[in-house]
Amino acid sequence: MARTIVVTGAASGIGQALAALLTRRGEHVVAVDVTSGDVVADLSTRRGRDDAVEGVLDETGGRIDAVVANAGLALPVRETVAVNHFGAVDLLTGLRPALAASSRAPRAVVTSSMATLLPVHVPLVEACLAGDEDRALALAAELEAAGPQAAATIYPSSKRALSRWVRRVAPLPAWAGAGIPLNAVAPGVVRTPMTAAMTATADGRAALDAVVPMPLGGYLEAGQVAALLAWLVSAENTHVCGQTVHVDGGSDVLLRGDDVWSWHDADPGTLSPRTGVATTHVGRDLSRAPAPVSVRPAGGPGHHRPGAGSPDRTLTDSGCSPDLRPTGLPLAWARRWTTGSAGVAVTTTGSSPRRGGWVPSHRGLGTHPSCCS
Ligand SMILES: NC(=O)c1ccc[n+]([C@@H]2O[C@H](COP(=O)([O-])OP(=O)(O)OC[C@H]3O[C@@H](n4cnc5c(N)ncnc54)[C@H](O)[C@@H]3O)[C@@H](O)[C@H]2O)c1
Repeated sequence: MARTIVVTGAASGIGQALAALLTRRGEHVVAVDVTSGDVVADLSTRRGRDDAVEGVLDETGGRIDAVVANAGLALPVRETVAVNHFGAVDLLTGLRPALAASSRAPRAVVTSSMATLLPVHVPLVEACLAGDEDRALALAAELEAAGPQAAATIYPSSKRALSRWVRRVAPLPAWAGAGIPLNAVAPGVVRTPMTAAMTATADGRAALDAVVPMPLGGYLEAGQVAALLAWLVSAENTHVCGQTVHVDGGSDVLLRGDDVWSWHDADPGTLSPRTGVATTHVGRDLSRAPAPVSVRPAGGPGHHRPGAGSPDRTLTDSGCSPDLRPTGLPLAWARRWTTGSAGVAVTTTGSSPRRGGWVPSHRGLGTHPSCCS
C-alpha cells in the first residue's frame, strides 16, 4: 500500500526529482512549494508555514508517513534563513504529531548542505538554534548590509543550524522515542536551477570548485540526491538517527580530513601524563568556542586533570590569532586556549580551503603544562 510522503520544494530541482522517483515507486506524494503543487505555501513566513501544515493535513486527512523538508534558497539574503532553517523546522514540528500517528514507517529528512562546513556567522547559528527567528532575521539583515563577504555566511549558517537542530532533536522522545528516524542529507554541488548560473560558466565552475572539491563523480544530478532522500524516508531505514549524510563527491572528507573522531579526546583538561600533550581537535567549529569553559574531570585511567586541586579550573579562550593560522589559509580556524596558572596552552586548528588546493586537516598542538612535565 502506498505511503504518503510530503515533499517541500517539489516544484524544482531535487524536490521535483524526488517527487518523480517516489511516484514511480508507487508512493503518494504531496507536493508543497511556493510556486505550484498540491499545497502552495510560502515557507519564508510563519503564516505561510501554518498554511503549509494546515494544507497538508487537509489534503491527506491527517495521514502522512514521511516528510522531506527540502525547500531552500541559496541567496545571500535574510529570506534564506527564514526558508532554510525556520521553514524546515516549523514544518517538521507542525507535522510531527501526524507522523507519530503513522503505523507505516514514519520518517523525516531535511536537505541540508555541504555548506555546513563553510565559515558561518556564529550568532546567527545560535539564534536559529534558540528558535529566535526575529533575532536571526535581524542578524541576517545586518550581514546582508555588510557586503558580499559577510552575506556569504548566511546560507552556510542556515544549513549548519539545520543540521545541528536535526542532531539535537533526533534522539529525543518526540522523534526517536516516537519511532521516527529524523536525518539530513548534505549534497555537494547539484545541477539544478539553484546552481545553473554558476555551473554554466568556466569562472562560475572555478569558483564552486575552489570551495566544494568533488573528486568523486563531479557535480551531482538532482536524481542522485533524490535516491538518498528516498532511502532515508523508506521503511528500510530503521536506525539512522540524527545524521547528516554527505552526498558530496568527497568534499566532506577533504575538508574535514580523516579524523572526525578525535574531538572526543580533545578535552583540554585531559592530558597524557607520559607526554604531557593534550589531544587535539580537528575540523571542529572552533570559531564557536565559548569562554570561559570549565575543565571537566579527566576521562579515565592514564589521564591527568591539570589544575586539579587548584582554584584555576577555567580555560580562557584568547581567540583567533593570526600567528596561529597556517600560512596561506584564508579561512583557517585556529584558537588558543590557556588555563592561566595551570600553564596549559592548547592550540586547535581546523581544516581549511586554500586557493589552488585543499588542505585536508591541520592537527592542533599541545604544549605540555608545568604540572605535567
Ligand atoms: N543545488 C545544489 O547544489 C544544492 C547543494 C546543497 C544543498 N542544496 C539544497 O537542496 C534543496 C533543493 O535545492 P535545489 O537545488 O533543488 O534548488 P531549486 O531552486 O531547484 O529548488 C528549490 C525549491 O524550493 C522552493 N522554495 C524556495 N523558497 C520557498 C518558499 N519560501 N516556500 C516554499 N518553497 C520554496 C522553490 O520554489 C523551488 O521549487 C535546497 O534546500 C538547497 O539548499 C542544493
